[in-house]
Amino acid sequence: MMPMRAAIYPGSFDPITNGHLDILRRATRLFDRVYVAVLKNSEKRALFSAEERLEMIKEATEGMPGVVCETFDGLAVEYARSRGAIAMVRGLRAVSDFEAEFKMATANNRLDPDIEMVYLMTSTEYSFLSSSIVREVASMGGPVDAWVPPCVARRLRERFSQKGGV
Ligand code: PNS
Repeated sequence: MMPMRAAIYPGSFDPITNGHLDILRRATRLFDRVYVAVLKNSEKRALFSAEERLEMIKEATEGMPGVVCETFDGLAVEYARSRGAIAMVRGLRAVSDFEAEFKMATANNRLDPDIEMVYLMTSTEYSFLSSSIVREVASMGGPVDAWVPPCVARRLRERFSQKGGV
C-alpha cells in the first residue's frame, strides 16, 4: 500500500479568501491529506482571532476531501513534522511574492531539509487578491462577495458594522 502523503498549508488566513481556497483545492489533488494551519500569536495585528479564522476555514472547507483545519504555534516545519507531513504548500500570485517566499523557503529548508516546499501558482482570476485587500475593501463597506466564501463575507459585514465602519 502507498504511504499516505500529507502536506501542511500554513498561513495567517485573516481571513481566508477564494484565492487560498483555490490553492487548497489544487493541493488536495496532490496530497492525500492537507492540514490548513492558522498561525496563532502572529506579530501581525489581526482583524479576526485565530479561533475565528479557524471557524471560517472549517466552514469554507466543509466537504473538501482530505482537509484538516487547525491552528499552530511555533515553527511551521516542526508543526509539519508533528503531523507526519512531507511538504509545505504555499501560493504564489506574482513576482512580488517571490522574494519573501524565497526567504521563507530557504529558512525552512535550513531548518528541516526533509520538508519540501511546494509552490502552486494562484489562478490569474485571483492574482490581485489578498486578505489585506479584502479587509480594506470590507472596512469601507465595499463588496467582497466575489472574493471570499459566504461565511467570511458575513463575518466581515458583522465585524465592520460593529465597528461602525473605519
Ligand atoms: O499568510 P502568511 O502571513 O504569509 O503566512 C506566513 C506563515 C504563517 C506561513 C509564516 O509566518 C510561518 O510559517 N510562521 C511560523 C514561524 C516559522 O516557521 N518561521 C520560520 C519560517 S519564515
